Amino acid sequence: MRTLILSDLHSNLEATLACLAAARELGYDRSAVLGDLVGYGGSPEEVVSEMRALRPAVMIRGNHDRVVAGIEQGEDFNLLALQAAVVNRRLLSAGSRDFLMSLPAGPKRLGERALVAHGTPLDEDEYLVDSREASRIFQGMEFSVCYFGHTHIPCVFRMEGAAVTRLFPAPDGTRVSLREGERFLINPGSVGQPRDEDPRAAFLILDEATREVSFHRVNYPIQKAQIRILEAGLPPLLAQRLERGV
Ligand SMILES: [Fe+2]
Repeated sequence: MRTLILSDLHSNLEATLACLAAARELGYDRSAVLGDLVGYGGSPEEVVSEMRALRPAVMIRGNHDRVVAGIEQGEDFNLLALQAAVVNRRLLSAGSRDFLMSLPAGPKRLGERALVAHGTPLDEDEYLVDSREASRIFQGMEFSVCYFGHTHIPCVFRMEGAAVTRLFPAPDGTRVSLREGERFLINPGSVGQPRDEDPRAAFLILDEATREVSFHRVNYPIQKAQIRILEAGLPPLLAQRLERGV
């Protein structure tokens, strides 16, 4: 069984299609989506449609999905994120908005052994970047592997005994063996708005037969995504940052 894991697509249709095409070539049997389908980018309706058509084994909401759906008003958002959420809401059909509203909060199970979460399994809005925080999460909840998103940085926290090590960011091609007795918090990185200074779209493949996860990056037509952002009337900064991966 091979699982495609996607996170933080952020209304970037071109990046989403590139990840799906590359993943199809590598081969996968099922998928998991870690939230933030919308926000920031210019194609929320199209990305929601793609994710509904994908029929993931598990799909959870992110903080941008909550605000774009109207569950929350985004009081804690910066101005750029808030402007984008308002435009994204306008671009969505009522059906897609209802769908976003129906997405469950993490953590949810992925198969027998793993969890998926947006921020962390303890808090869907927490940004997990350092090992001390990871250690607190490993101690606070029982799981062997948790896939999470939210920071847009592909990375791995590994716990062996009481020690937590970190690979941050995890570069393209990184492979991690999920060994028995070790525990993992793994972020695939962002499909639609990478922030590790690598502008390519990111996704992860979990191979249950070999107990290995592999990090992948794929080029996509960034210019097309930028044009969609500008044409939607979104702040130009949101287009510019895509080519720098920040
Ligand atoms: Fe996000």
